[in-house]
Amino acid sequence: MTARWIVGVGVAVAMGGCGNEPGAGTDSGGGGDTGGTGGAFDPLYSDYFQTCRSCHMPGAWGTHTGIERTLDFSTVETAYQTLTTGTASGLVGNDAACNGVRLVGSSYETSLVAAVLDENVHAAFNDPDHPGCDADAIPDMTVKVGFPPSGAFLQALRDWIDAGAPR
Ligand code: HEC
Repeated sequence: MTARWIVGVGVAVAMGGCGNEPGAGTDSGGGGDTGGTGGAFDPLYSDYFQTCRSCHMPGAWGTHTGIERTLDFSTVETAYQTLTTGTASGLVGNDAACNGVRLVGSSYETSLVAAVLDENVHAAFNDPDHPGCDADAIPDMTVKVGFPPSGAFLQALRDWIDAGAPR
């Protein structure tokens, strides 16, 4: 009788512990946007765009002369704002031809952010106002990240841009 009672308490304590810990441990991806908005852009950020912040955020800029400086991937909010309202800046050399090009344009094919991630957009990129910003001038950011985005991510990025880049 006594032994069975002790086992019962042990199970109850163990289950209580399990119930508390996973919730506390899965918050690390939240960054500065605790709670989030559940917006359309959030999955794109958590899936791949957050990897860009190792270089494209204010604290990281000093070490890269000639890096693209409009983009700020510090948080999902700054990423959304700089992508959807900004044009490329700070680029030097060959890449300077892309300064002034919209990061998210009116379509997937005319968005510089798609051209640095999707080889098909990259190959055909053509902005009449910035003729020098072509496949030779645009770098491949998947190499900088270290791994390519999934096909599902690129499709979701296309759908998001074609929907008007909603927050
Ligand atoms: C290791 C640092 C690094 C990472 C990570 C990185 N970038 Fe870049 N990015 C650069 C540098 C440096 C440039 C300037 C061009 C160059 O030197 O290749 C640049 C340029 C760009 C440009 C301008 C392209 C042009 O026409 O020159 C865009 C857009 C861009 N990055 C987006 C991104 C996105 C989106 C990600 C994440 C998926 C990302 N970058 C990840 C360093 C990085």
